[in-house]
Amino acid sequence: MSERPRVESPAALPVPRSVAIIMDGNGRWARSRGFERIRGHERGIQAVRETVEECARLGVQGLTLYAFSEENWSRPQREIDLLMRLLERFLVEERATLMDNRVKLLHVGRRERLGPSVLQKLDESVAMTAGNPGMRLGLAISYGGRAEIVDAARRLAREVRDGRLDPELIDEARFREQLYRPEIPDPDLLIRTAGEMRVSNFLLWQISYAELHVETVCWPDFRKEHLHAAFRAFGGRVRKFGAVAP
Ligand code: IPE
Ligand code: IPE
Ligand code: MG
Repeated sequence: MSERPRVESPAALPVPRSVAIIMDGNGRWARSRGFERIRGHERGIQAVRETVEECARLGVQGLTLYAFSEENWSRPQREIDLLMRLLERFLVEERATLMDNRVKLLHVGRRERLGPSVLQKLDESVAMTAGNPGMRLGLAISYGGRAEIVDAARRLAREVRDGRLDPELIDEARFREQLYRPEIPDPDLLIRTAGEMRVSNFLLWQISYAELHVETVCWPDFRKEHLHAAFRAFGGRVRKFGAVAP
C-alpha cells in the first residue's frame, strides 16, 4: 500500500539544519482500512518515534512536529479527548527515547486550552529533557501560526506600553524573539504527508524560505526511507533567498 523508496546511505544524505513536519492523513489511513480515525492517530506514534530518532541520528538541529492545531479544537469532542489522551501517553512513554537520543523537548503553542493533565506531562517531559544538548524537538500542540504572530505582537505592545521598548527598535530579529520557541532554527525543509498542498496555519513566520516537500503516504506509513527521500529532494533544490542563483 505504502510505496517504500529505496534506502539512502545516511552518509551521503544532505541533512537540513531544521525540519518541520505536518503529520497529516491519520484519519484517512484508518478510514481506508475500515478503522475508526483514532486508530490512525495511534499508529502515527510509531512514525513519530522513528522520525525523531532518525533526525537526531542524522544531526538535524531542530525538528518541529505539528501534532494538534488551534483549528483542531473544532473536531468532535470525542476525537479531541482521545487525541489528548494519546498525547499524554506519548509524552510519558517517549521519555526514554528522548533521553537516549539526547533530545530537548519544547512545547510550541498556546497553553490556555490544554487540560491540566496534558500540561503536567508536557512540563515534566520538557523539564526532564531541558539539559539535553542534542536536537531540539518542538511539539506543536494547540498551535496556530496566526495566533503565534498575534501573541508576539501583544507581548511587544505590552513592552512599548510599559515604556520598556522603543517601537522604532522593532525589527525582524526582535519580533522573532517573541515567537513561541525562537531557540528552534527556522525550518529549511517543510514536509507534509498525505498529499495536501497547503500549510494549514503552521509556522507562518518561520517557513518564509523553507523548501516544501509533499509526500503522498499518510503519516502512519511514514518511515525513515521517506524522510531520506525528502532530504534527498531538499539537497537538489537551489535556494536563492531572493538573490540571483550562483
Ligand atoms: C493528522 O491527521 C493528525 C491531526 C490533525 C491531529 P488527520 O486527523 O488530519 O487525518 P486526515 O487528514 O483526516 O486524514
Ligand atoms: C494540520 O492538519 C494539523 C496537524 C497535522 C496537526 P489538518 O488535517 O488539521 O489540516 P487541514 O484541515 O487539512 O487543513
Ligand atoms: Mg488532516
